[in-house]
Order: sequence, then C-alpha cells, then structure tokens
Amino acid sequence: MISYQDGTFRLDTDHTSYIFRVTKFGHLESIHYGERLQEQSYEALILKQSAEIGSTVKYDASDPLYSLDTMSLEWSGIGKGDYRHSPAEIRMPNGSFVTDFVYSGSQITDGCIPMDTLPSSYSEADDCRTLKITMIDQPSGVLLHLFYTVFAGMDVITRRVVLENGNENPLEIRKLMSMMIDLPSRNFSMVTFKGGWIKEAHRDDCRLHPGLFVNESTTGASSNRSNPGFLLAEQGASESSGRVYGFNLVYSGNHYEGVELSNMGLVRVMSGINPHCFSWTLHKGERFETPETIMTFSSSGFNGMSQNFHDFINGHIVRGIWKGKERPVLLNNWEAHFFSFTQGKLLRLARQAKKLGVELFVLDDGWFGKRNSDTAGLGDYTVNRRKIRCGMPKFAEKINRIGLKFGLWFEPEMVNPDSDLFRAHPEYAVRLPDRDPSLGRNQLVLDLCNPEVRDYIVTSVRGILTEADISYVKWDMNRHMSDMYSPCISDQGEFYHRYIIGLYDILGRIFGDRPQILLETCSSGGNRFDLGMLCYSPQIWASDDTDPIERLAIQRGLSYLYPLSTIGAHVSSAPHQQTLRSTPLSSRFNAASFGCLGYELDLKFVPRLEKREIREQIAFYKEHRNTMQYGKFYRFDALKGNKVHWESVGRDKEEAVAGFYQTQSSASEGFDFLPLAGLDPEKKYTLRTMPRPLYIKRFGALINFILPFHIDPEWFPARMINKLVCLTDCVEEYQGYGRLLEAGVKLNNQFEGSNFNSRTRMLGDFGSNLYIIRHVS
Ligand code: DGJ
Repeated sequence: MISYQDGTFRLDTDHTSYIFRVTKFGHLESIHYGERLQEQSYEALILKQSAEIGSTVKYDASDPLYSLDTMSLEWSGIGKGDYRHSPAEIRMPNGSFVTDFVYSGSQITDGCIPMDTLPSSYSEADDCRTLKITMIDQPSGVLLHLFYTVFAGMDVITRRVVLENGNENPLEIRKLMSMMIDLPSRNFSMVTFKGGWIKEAHRDDCRLHPGLFVNESTTGASSNRSNPGFLLAEQGASESSGRVYGFNLVYSGNHYEGVELSNMGLVRVMSGINPHCFSWTLHKGERFETPETIMTFSSSGFNGMSQNFHDFINGHIVRGIWKGKERPVLLNNWEAHFFSFTQGKLLRLARQAKKLGVELFVLDDGWFGKRNSDTAGLGDYTVNRRKIRCGMPKFAEKINRIGLKFGLWFEPEMVNPDSDLFRAHPEYAVRLPDRDPSLGRNQLVLDLCNPEVRDYIVTSVRGILTEADISYVKWDMNRHMSDMYSPCISDQGEFYHRYIIGLYDILGRIFGDRPQILLETCSSGGNRFDLGMLCYSPQIWASDDTDPIERLAIQRGLSYLYPLSTIGAHVSSAPHQQTLRSTPLSSRFNAASFGCLGYELDLKFVPRLEKREIREQIAFYKEHRNTMQYGKFYRFDALKGNKVHWESVGRDKEEAVAGFYQTQSSASEGFDFLPLAGLDPEKKYTLRTMPRPLYIKRFGALINFILPFHIDPEWFPARMINKLVCLTDCVEEYQGYGRLLEAGVKLNNQFEGSNFNSRTRMLGDFGSNLYIIRHVS
C-alpha cells in the first residue's frame, strides 16, 4: 500500500498509484497520480528539467536547472522562486512570509490517525495505512507534517497537514491548505457544484486556461453556493470513460479550492480552509491541524469516480449504528402545516401516514417557545403547550402508539432577538460591540466560540432528547453568518474556524452517546451538505426544492460526490411551492426514490387514488430501498436533451432499478432507449416497468378521444370519475442476459401525437418511469 525506496514514496490503491520523491534539495516532487502502475522505475514519468527556462529564479547556485516555479510539487512555499499560488501563507517568527519546507523524515503507521479538533475519515478494519512526512523550514525550526492515508480497496487517498511551531516566537497562519499537488495538464475542466437556495449543487464545467480558478465559500458554512467537492476531468471524459479526479473536504465551514494552470502546463490543485478573514496564531510548541481532503481517481469516467466516493463515504465517513443501515420512510409536517398546527392535526396526519406505510413521523419547526412564525422563539426549546397539549414525552408516545417512530426539528445554532434566550443573554449572539447586527431570516447566530453557549445548546437539546422517545433529529441552520466577532477569542481571524470546531464539539456531545438517533442535518435545504456533517449525520436534507425536475439537477449534482444513502429526498404536493410546476405524483416519487425517501405534504388534501399510489410507492421503495440507497449508482450521458437516465444496481447484482425521466415533451418524440450498466453479463434478468397510474384529469377534454361518448371534464360527474377511476400507463416486460440488456433496451413508442393504445407510453412534460430489473434463474 505504501512503500519507500531510494527517496521515492509510492502509495498504491487497487486501481491507482500516487508517486512522489524527495529531490536533492529536499522538496517533494510529484511524479504520478492516476492509473495503477506495474513498473517500479519512473524515469519516464519524471518531469524533465533539461533546459533553463527564462524568467525563473534558481533555487541554488549549484544547479541552474532547479527552479521551483517549473517543478511538479507536493507542497510549495513562498519566496524561493515558485510564483504559483502557495498552499501556505505564514507570517513566520522572523516577520517575513518566506517559507521553504524540506524533507526531514517519514513514518508509516497502520490505520488512520484521528484528529484532535476535527472529524475525519476512519477505519474499523485493517484496511488503510498512513504515511506521515515531516518537513522543516530550517532557519525557523517550524515543522510541517503531511499526512497521507491510503484506503487501497476504495481507491481513495486522503491528505491533510499539521503545522507545528518549533520556534521561540509566535507565527501567524494566514492560509494553510490541507493538500497541494501539481498534475500535468490534460485539458482539464474543473467541475464544481454551484447554486443557492432551492437550486443547490448544479454541475458547472469550466475548461481551465492559464490562471487561477477558485471554488469557495465565505458564508461561514460549506454553503449552497459552492460545494467543497470538485472534480478535474480530462477533455472528453464522459459518465463512463475518461480520467476524472475527485476531491472533497471533510469540513463544514468556509472552504477554498484552487486550481491553477501554469504557463508551463502544470495544474496546481489545492483545497482547505478558506483564507478569507482567516488568521491563527501559533505559539511555541503549538500545532494547527487542517481538515482532511479526500482524493480519488478513476479512468472509467465520472461514474467510476463517483462510485469510489460513494463506497468510501458509506464505509469510512458515515459511522455508528446508521452506517450501512436502510433509512426509514418519513413524513415531515413542514410543508403540510408550516407553523400552524395543533396536536390534533399532527396526530391525524400521523395516522394517515401510518396507513400509507410511512415509518417515521417528523415534527418540524414551530413546536417550541413562541415560534408561531420565523420571527420569534429560536433558542427557547420549551414545548409550546398550546400546540402540543400533552407535552413532548407524551406526544412522542402517542406517535409511537400509532406505530411510527418520532422525529423532531431543532435549529440550535440560532436565536431570534424576540426570544427569552436573547432577552436573558444578548451576549450569546454573534455581534460586534460597536454595531447593530444584521439579521437573516429574522435571526442571529449563536456564538459557538463561547463555551457557555455550547453548554446551553447541549443542555437544552439533550434535555428534550432525554425526556421523550425521539428516534430522529433534523438539525437545521437557516442563515449565513454576518458580524463575525466573539469576545471569547483574542484573534477574530480565528472566528469562522472556531465556530465550526465548536459545532463539531456540540454534535459530538449531544449525539455521541445516542447512536440510535438518526440525525439529518439541514441548512435551508442543502446549504451545508458536506463530509464534515456526514461524520455526524448519516443523511442531509438536499434542498427545500422538491420539484422533481429541479431535483433531477440537484440530486444529480450531489450524486457526483455523495452516495444516495445520504441524500434526503421528499415527495411534496403539486403545483410545487417554489416553482409552481405541476408534475405527476409518479415523477415526484421516481426522483425522490433515488435517495432517502420522505413525504412532505398534507395527506388530508391528497385524493383517494393518489393515496393508493403513495401506498404502492412506499411498498415498492421498501422492497427496493437497499438497492436505491446502497446500490452502485450510474448516471448516463443524456441520449437526448430532454431526458435523464439513472440506475442503481444492487451490490449482489440480483436486481437493479432504472429511472427514465422526460424533462419536457417534444412533438413526435421518436424512439427511446433505456441505457443500463453494471449488470452481470452471465445472469438472466427480467426488466419490467413499475406500473404507474394515469389520472384522467391530466388529459382534460382529450379523454373524449378514447371514450365511446363525450364528456365535459369540468362537469361534476366527470370530476367524480377522475377521483374514482384511473388508467395504468403501459407496462413493458423483457428478458435477457445482462450483456443483452446493457446493449440498450428499445422502449415502446411514446404518444406520437395521434392514436393511443395500451402499448403507448404516456409521458408528456415531466413524465417518468421506473424499471425493475431482476435476476431470474
Ligand atoms: C429550512 C428547512 O430546509 C425546511 O425543511 C424547514 O425545516 C424549515 N427550515 C423550517 O424552518
């Protein structure tokens, strides 16, 4: 897994090799990161420095060809001739910014080395090894430790650094990345996942050209604007072919990813804590640890890269009882009631949910203090007895008696100025002594740098979790930071990072000894969807946007970086609350089922036939959820601009579920193919459409074309018929060995503008189908 020979380090995973060497002056030179190599001699791969390059500064007079600016490095400092961006900006004990870390020693240990302040990947078996390289800045005695942990079976290598001040005088860190590597250019595109509220994680491809490309967040959280995960894809890479590198950071605060194409054709990659407003003072003997960067590589395109990430996150990030465990189907009352509910309303909703097969009832915002709108009450976690008459323990019991688990919403990091907490402790809020703080969603951020505030949060949340039988917690966080200042720290440059360390401390203290609780984190939807949170919460609410067409983009984006077992996805009502789009219930389910399924709507207003459909959906999901949450997930390159194709294949290849989505219909659509992958070529399968109701109302007066008589669709009896009767869309069934099906199943025609029969697929705008592929003996 890790070897060291003649000054060269080699880190191997099953399908990748990562090689670098110590140069004659002690710098670490990258030789290769990519396909697994057989050879042990790398002369051909070493970047040649055979001619002097103009405008370069020589590192040492003894070698005119040795210039750091043109080398492929594992780490680089400032002020010794490398003019690309450095992963570290440190005001050194002598006051200068010049650093030159050179090799001083290395150590290889079994397993991972946990961190003191931050969560990181872990291993429960003997399946990883860690290389620690110590570098020294000789004149100052400052040490830099580079950690590489190799998860061979996962094709993942993680990196992080620890800076240690070995000097008498303090130093100040202004920027310290978790990793840096220089790669040879392959006409890369930097693929990032951008967005905002209700439009998270949209894939963005940006072809590199000379200069620096930055993906970052400055909101205080990992943010919905730019996910910390990003990819480098060689030109022409597709879902199934081409070289793709993946990087992600185990961190929930401001992050920074820089990719710089140099004039010599090297691509410098770095990721870590955002240097924006960051500074950290290290006194003699003190250490600073950066978050961990996860790296993977695949020559099998985006899917290969994603599948590596998925396996790794399921196996080495998500932990505790919920690791590998099927997620329950939940019903969340938020979009059903918002703040306006009573105990009676909730119990009625829960009873109906139970009848449909729901397993977990989640009471969202509005149950405590004076929280009757988003203007008041945050911070006061005492039950509002006007809404929950019997108190929380009894209410949880009532839900349990219905046959459902009970889950509860909190937003512990926040306070409304109109709250008892704020009135008693205005100093708990993040604000400056000499300015009025700015509000976001009518609330202020609590100062998690303050240990007293952390204790308050731990005590109040634990209090509720102790008295009531709560199986699930939704931990929300609904604003970006402003007015960053804490009286508890002397250097305000530490604020953002100390806040995140404080958050991890709180999560550990509340949930560490409650592993049975399924924690779903959330931040106005997917505003903090990152690996740091996944170390505590096995699933994250992906977006407040549950419109299935929007979700195709959001869940697709997230799926590049995160497994489906972590992606919270709900079916809500139509027309959709944010987009006003009307979509079939089947499509809402077909999108949400590629994730952790939930429902978020008032069942009181769901017609009888749709309730029956929901019951069938939940039964289907329960039967296939292992495949949907933990299967090998494939995205397919769009065969047509108006189609999305997904597939999840069970680990034992006994079954697969494929999704076919039409984002818009087009006139006389032409033939449709169903792409499939990942099946066992030697196994015989049946492929069958999941039956899908066609509601008559969707066709309005068109229904007259297939009826023997004509009716007005707005006529009262016609509306009654709509409520009582529906058709079923065409169900197709085929058989074949895996290889045959993967050749591309040709589907029945869609409605082509005239004529309808029982073999016509009726999709229209936003229509979709799921196909179940099962092994038959
Ligand atoms: C934002 C979340 O994303 C929603 O799901 C809901 O929990 C609201 N907050 C409640 O205020």
